[in-house]
Amino acid sequence: MPAQASSSFSAARAPRVAIVGATGAVGEEFLRVLDQRSFPMTSLKLLASARSAGKTLSFGDQTLTVEALGEHSFDDVDLALFSAGGSISREYAPLAVKAGAVVVDNSSAFRMTDGVPLVVPEVNPQAVTEAGIGLRKELKAGIIANPNCSTIIMLLAVNPLHRFAGVERIVVSTYQAASGAGAAAMRELEQQTREALSAPGGTGTVETQDVFGMQYAFNLFSHNSPVEMGGYNQEELKMVHESHKIWNQDADQGAAVSPERIRTGITATCVRVPVMRAHAESINLTFRDECSELKASELLRAAPGVTLQDDRAANAFPTPLQASHQDDVFVGRVRRDLSQPEGRGLDLFVCGDQIRKGAALNAVQIAELLLERRGAER
Ligand SMILES: NC(=O)c1ccc[n+]([C@@H]2O[C@H](COP(=O)([O-])OP(=O)(O)OC[C@H]3O[C@@H](n4cnc5c(N)ncnc54)[C@H](OP(=O)(O)O)[C@@H]3O)[C@@H](O)[C@H]2O)c1
Repeated sequence: MPAQASSSFSAARAPRVAIVGATGAVGEEFLRVLDQRSFPMTSLKLLASARSAGKTLSFGDQTLTVEALGEHSFDDVDLALFSAGGSISREYAPLAVKAGAVVVDNSSAFRMTDGVPLVVPEVNPQAVTEAGIGLRKELKAGIIANPNCSTIIMLLAVNPLHRFAGVERIVVSTYQAASGAGAAAMRELEQQTREALSAPGGTGTVETQDVFGMQYAFNLFSHNSPVEMGGYNQEELKMVHESHKIWNQDADQGAAVSPERIRTGITATCVRVPVMRAHAESINLTFRDECSELKASELLRAAPGVTLQDDRAANAFPTPLQASHQDDVFVGRVRRDLSQPEGRGLDLFVCGDQIRKGAALNAVQIAELLLERRGAER
């Protein structure tokens, strides 16, 4: 468990905020989301590697200068939003907590650590309260983890159905965008696409293969995370383990299955596709209780953070392009799985902007929970 201290926050002012990894794909999205949601702040500090020190970034109508991350970066910070990779989080998040800041961490460093809440605000908001972490002197500074982007997108769609009918099994296949691998992967997909289109003799091959070590443009491949014993890659295992942790933290929120039964069988196949931004997922569900197509559509239509887009007549369903830069996760292709006993199986197709809802937006929503809580308890 990371070091604990009491929160440095003073209720007399809005929090002093820092973004760690401000120059990255998620970091820049943090700037947009904080601005668009008018997140209350006394100050905003942008932190990145020494390579970016002095670089400027826009925040609303302000121009802010990036500082190099260092051990004293958090001396005047109440809330630190981390998105600079696991090793940076492991080294600096405990220092931020020691300095009295609440950390919302986008990396996988602490997601499965006992005592660190793993939160999707639409699914298990109470996990924050239960951990006693908050922006008040009497509450603890501490770390709250943002789940993996594919997990967040899947749970936004599946959780409303799970609460109603108890999902016993999930078979999910992902179609993951370049943006999930950061700004460098997005640049490389663009570069490779140019190279492929102008390749001599129309061969469609590319020279630049720095990020994934293979051709990404006009190709697709198994997710680039390391493959573990048993053949699952780490991205697939994150979807399994994180979903279980989140749902178990949701146990008293009226989920249709009791905590000891929230061991829903989940098997995932994660694939990178040459899409610039926003992930797609094909999801097959087996329910304990009956859940008709009609009921599922009704539940999804009412679910926070979800837009049902399911027009069979027009063959119009979610696409990554349309989900890009949107807050909601789009769900369509809601249909009975004909291979399962009636009412016990459904298929869905889901798209969500994983830099936004899968990372920056979810983290800012967690920070908003901390602020709401402050208001409620005052
Ligand atoms: N992309 C997504 O959709 C997504 C979704 C969920 C979670 N995440 C997680 O969010 C984190 C960042 O992802 P990203 O996609 O934004 O990556 P990215 O575009 O590669 O950005 C990485 C950021 O980390 C900073 N950084 C690198 N080394 C550093 C150092 N030694 N000290 C301080 N800052 C350093 C970089 O600063 P410089 O520019 O100075 O190098 C940059 O700001 C990762 O942990 C990732 O797993 C990403």
